[in-house]
Amino acid sequence: MHPMLNIAVKAARRAGDIINQASRNLDLLNVSRKSHSDFVSEVDGAAEEAIIRILRDTYPDHAILAEESGIRGDIEKAEYQWIIDPLDGTTNFLHGFPQYSVSIALKHKGLLNKAVVYNPNNNELFTASRGGGAYLNNQRIRVSKRFRLEDCLIGTGIPFRDLTHVEAYLKMFKDVIPRVAGIRRPGSAALDLSYVAAGRYDGFWEIGLAPWDMAAGCLMIQEAGGLVGDLEGNDTYLESGQIIAGNPKVFSQLLQIIMPHLSQALIENHRAAEKR
Ligand code: IPD
Ligand code: CA
Ligand code: CA
Repeated sequence: MHPMLNIAVKAARRAGDIINQASRNLDLLNVSRKSHSDFVSEVDGAAEEAIIRILRDTYPDHAILAEESGIRGDIEKAEYQWIIDPLDGTTNFLHGFPQYSVSIALKHKGLLNKAVVYNPNNNELFTASRGGGAYLNNQRIRVSKRFRLEDCLIGTGIPFRDLTHVEAYLKMFKDVIPRVAGIRRPGSAALDLSYVAAGRYDGFWEIGLAPWDMAAGCLMIQEAGGLVGDLEGNDTYLESGQIIAGNPKVFSQLLQIIMPHLSQALIENHRAAEKR
C-alpha cells in the first residue's frame, strides 16, 4: 500500500477506535447544535484531532481542510491537501443508529489522489488510489453492471440543514420513485458513495454536501469505474455540494430525471430575486 494511503488508514482506524469507545456511553456525551439539525459532539472533535495528529506527525507540510477545525496551511498553494470528515453521520451516531464513518481524502496538485472511508461498526474499510483502483477490505470493488433503472437501488440524502432546494428535491424524489426498484437514505454520505463504488447501490444523488462529505467517496467511485458529477453533469461537485453518481449507464439516466428540477428551481429563484 502507498505510504500516504497507509497513514490515512492508520488515522481512520484510530478515529474509529475513539468513536467505538464513545458509542458505548452515548448518554455521557456533550452534544451541541451548530445550526438547525446540525449536531456536533466531543467525539467529532476528538476523532478529528487524532487524525490530524497522525497526518501532521508524518507530513507536517501538507495542508488540511477538516470539518470541525477548518483550514491548516495554505490550501491554495500546498502540493498536498488532506480533506477530513472525522465522523460522517453524527446524527446517526448520537442515536446509536449504526451507519456512520470516518472519511479522509488526499488531493495532490488539486486532484483527488487517495481515499479512505472507514465504518467502525462493522470494520469495513474502503480505500482508493488514483489509477490504482478501489478496494473494500483489500478486495477490489467495482460499480454494478445494472442498466435498467427499474432494477436499480438508488441512495440519496434528504436536505435537512439548508432547505433552499427542498421543493426541487421533493420533485426529484417523486420522479425517481416510480422508475427504480427502491430508494435508501441511511445518513452517511461518505458511506453512501462508497456503496456505489462497491455496487451495493447503482446510483446516488444529494444536494447540499460539503467537500469533506464527498471527497473520499468520489475518488472511490471513479476508481471503481463509476461516474460522478454535479446536478448538471459537470465536475464542480466538490464546490457546488450537489452530486449525482452511479455506474455509467445509471448516472446518465438519473441525471436526465433529476437535472430539470434543479434548473427549474434556479430559474424560479433568479426570477424571485429580480422581483425583490
Ligand atoms: C452528513 C451526512 C449525511 C448527509 C449530510 C451530511 P455529518 O454529515 O453525510 O448523510 O445527508 O448532508 O452533512 O454532518 O454527519 O458529518
Ligand atoms: Ca459529513
Ligand atoms: Ca462530520
